[in-house]
Amino acid sequence: MSEDTTPTGTTQRADDPESLWLATTPTTDYEPLDGGLHVDVAVVGGGIAGLTTALELKERGSTVAVVEADRVVTGATGHTTAKVTSQHGLRYSKLTEKFDRRTAEQYGRANEAAIDEVERIVEKHDIDAQFRRTPSYVYAESAENIDKIREEDRAATQAGLPSAFVQETDLPFDVEAAVKFSEQAEFHPRKYLLGVVEAIHGDGSYVFEETRATDVDAGAPNRVETERGTVVADDVVVATQFPIYDRGGYFARTHPHRAYLLAVEIAGEVPEGMYYSAASPPATMRPYRSDGEEYLIVGGQSHEPSLGGPPTSERYRRCEAYARSRFDVESVAYRWSTHDYSTVDGMPYIGEIGPGAGDVYVATGFDGWGMTGGTAAGMLIADLIEMGRSHYADLFDPKRVTPKASAKNFFSENAVVGARFVGDRVRTLLHDRDDLPRPGEARVLREQGRPTGVYRDEGGAVHAVDATCPHMGCLVTWNDAERSWDCPCHGSRFDYDGEILSGPAVEGLEHREYPTPDGGEEED
Ligand code: FES
Repeated sequence: MSEDTTPTGTTQRADDPESLWLATTPTTDYEPLDGGLHVDVAVVGGGIAGLTTALELKERGSTVAVVEADRVVTGATGHTTAKVTSQHGLRYSKLTEKFDRRTAEQYGRANEAAIDEVERIVEKHDIDAQFRRTPSYVYAESAENIDKIREEDRAATQAGLPSAFVQETDLPFDVEAAVKFSEQAEFHPRKYLLGVVEAIHGDGSYVFEETRATDVDAGAPNRVETERGTVVADDVVVATQFPIYDRGGYFARTHPHRAYLLAVEIAGEVPEGMYYSAASPPATMRPYRSDGEEYLIVGGQSHEPSLGGPPTSERYRRCEAYARSRFDVESVAYRWSTHDYSTVDGMPYIGEIGPGAGDVYVATGFDGWGMTGGTAAGMLIADLIEMGRSHYADLFDPKRVTPKASAKNFFSENAVVGARFVGDRVRTLLHDRDDLPRPGEARVLREQGRPTGVYRDEGGAVHAVDATCPHMGCLVTWNDAERSWDCPCHGSRFDYDGEILSGPAVEGLEHREYPTPDGGEEED
């Protein structure tokens, strides 16, 4: 195991999950909100959707305030693959089938416009974002997927995208066929967005970190309540992945999925293009080069936490096995995971958040393609706020009703979440309170009839929390690679002492007293 000191001053070990993007940029230290404030637009969430919205609005003359619960660009945007592309797997054949050709065309146009917008922002604000135009591919390694590739190329071409069916790539292993999109892009998401944050902060606009929003009070004007004061605003944008303010039944229409990434050093050439496989689960790849460092970012293993399955450590192991089976991997420098949300019809929700909250907007459900999706959201919401209209308002309207495209996922997702809600409680009864985990492990036990998450650290000390998620009551599950309690229902995450890592929950897991095996006191 190698150890290096990163630019953030932390120690990076290949065994500890840390995103390459976070490890290669400085930390930020914007002040928290202190008291009250009145601006034109309040933006909740400091990821790419929220920050792009704020910049777009500031450029058009509005005053904005971004409130971020943690540090900006440390959530999903700080843990992405960072592909800036309109190629989203086999998206266009699915959209054509589930909706129609026009819907696929509009979706493609919105995402192509997002690529151009990132390039415009990079140039206008002179951001050293490592932005680079490069092709993107969806590839098939087995002959049985060639028809899917042909169909995707046909649908994408009909949708007006720069698509081509090819059988040659710069991958060092054989592929049967691929759909190639030209003029796509990659960048360093934190370098890009830290430049965006600099452009937002100042001249009557603000970025507040360590300021957790706890509620939105829709009215005229609207109020964003935080742990550190209230932001009053004419318009509010909720860009917190899963919305912290659910005025549209998002809990039943949006579901999380997780994915895993490695940055590996390989012998030989790192491919130039960005790649995504047509297999299930798909693999994803892109190059990273900067200051003499060269990595292949490779991963996948996307899954829905509510469906259970192997532990996190096994997901990482499978990503590494995939990389080693196709490249001569010399070392694993970084590994990290991320989660994003999908909607029941596969189309993001961008626009007015729901009935009775006319000046509150939402951006969520990018299905793992948040770099273009989040940018498109910023452009669309800025248009709605400033002009009252957008070319793409109907396409992404969160209030849309799409029974044909939604039915299957709506019922299956809610059946799964419902099963977790009830089934986990039944299973918990199997674990007696004395059935303590071994050091370094965790499990949910029944303590005085209540589900209790018990983690024993390597020294044997017990850390116990209420295992009921404060968002909507599902039971959390243990993430063994990141030593966190994760909620399978809507994706909230907590550290082993119950501190909140990410929402939609706005408070942590309650601390529980729990005796150690030798009868002593637990660790505080
Ligand atoms: Fe919704 Fe836990 S119940 S995130």
